Amino acid sequence: MSFAQLAAVAGFYGRFTPSFSRIGFQARRLGWRHIPWRFSGQRWLVTGASAGIGRAIARAAAEGGAEVVAVARASARLEQIAVGLAPEPAARLTTLPADLSLVSGTAALLEMLTSEGRPFDVLINNAGVLLNEHRMTEEGHEASFVVNLLSHYQLTEGLLAAGTLANGATLVNMSSGGMYSVPLGLEGLDVTDPARHVGKLAYARHKRAQVALTGDWQRRLSEREMAVYVMHPGWVRTEGVRQSLPVFWRVQRPILRQPIEGADTALWLCATRPVPRADVIWFDRKPRPVHLFSQTRQAGCSVEALREFLQRQLDAAA
Ligand SMILES: NC(=O)c1ccc[n+]([C@@H]2O[C@H](COP(=O)([O-])OP(=O)(O)OC[C@H]3O[C@@H](n4cnc5c(N)ncnc54)[C@H](OP(=O)(O)O)[C@@H]3O)[C@@H](O)[C@H]2O)c1
Repeated sequence: MSFAQLAAVAGFYGRFTPSFSRIGFQARRLGWRHIPWRFSGQRWLVTGASAGIGRAIARAAAEGGAEVVAVARASARLEQIAVGLAPEPAARLTTLPADLSLVSGTAALLEMLTSEGRPFDVLINNAGVLLNEHRMTEEGHEASFVVNLLSHYQLTEGLLAAGTLANGATLVNMSSGGMYSVPLGLEGLDVTDPARHVGKLAYARHKRAQVALTGDWQRRLSEREMAVYVMHPGWVRTEGVRQSLPVFWRVQRPILRQPIEGADTALWLCATRPVPRADVIWFDRKPRPVHLFSQTRQAGCSVEALREFLQRQLDAAA
């Protein structure tokens, strides 16, 4: 590593570690009012709920009285999600397996959810992956593009079209501080050429696009009194981080947040429903800027072009 690269890495960790790690969470929580999570009478849909942050959100919501549908791929982990909960919250948690890396997997999930005809009060689009190795799906897309972005768009639009998101519903999209490094653009969202795949860059682009989509949903859905938020959980100690960022994991592990700490802002947003804003990302219970670096302000496309691009992928798969 050159001196310049070393300086860049040191600058990055020096700037973000105090805030994004557990240190930031513990310091900020000193100023927070204790809010018991009360979600009785609500129906929640949480994706990526078999592990990490999504699991912590699903369990806390069920403990707060919500009826929770927890989605992830079929696995022992998904079946174990209620282990350790008291009988009543455990009974409020149901699991629904779906592979969100496939348009057909999300379509099948939508079919199940909308045919029940029971609306959700909360949707947490949390499923996300950082794939260092290039992986194509059988439908011809790069897998992380579909899990991180296309499935969120497909699920949300599908639930809205079917009336399965109640008027007044809360929608939380789980983004990442990784998005601070890139501008919005269509280029590089769905990288089908393995030679051009850089997992971290693809992930950052998907997470930036989520921020733009959230602003668009917020503007479109406010007349239905829906509250739409995008958030960043900080750096959280999860299996996803261990697998996708092994060096970061080794260095930062002692100060990574616990999953329930990463889940905190999502739960707080749903419990308090602050006035939504189209131009912020929520982090540790506060709205934060969506740009930290001047070079990301110049978007490579409009949000309308992003929506059209995502819709074209769905139409092509239909
Ligand atoms: N951890 C962090 O520091 C951090 C920081 C910033 C943002 N985030 C974001 O927070 C979210 C959760 O991250 P995490 O760290 O908790 O991740 P994680 O521990 O790896 O959990 C990811 C969840 O997504 C599910 N998932 C993955 N592929 C799927 C697929 N094809 N279909 C359905 N579900 C799938 C996984 O379930 P199965 O594998 O069982 O299907 C699991 O439940 C992600 O969106 C991530 O980008 C995390």
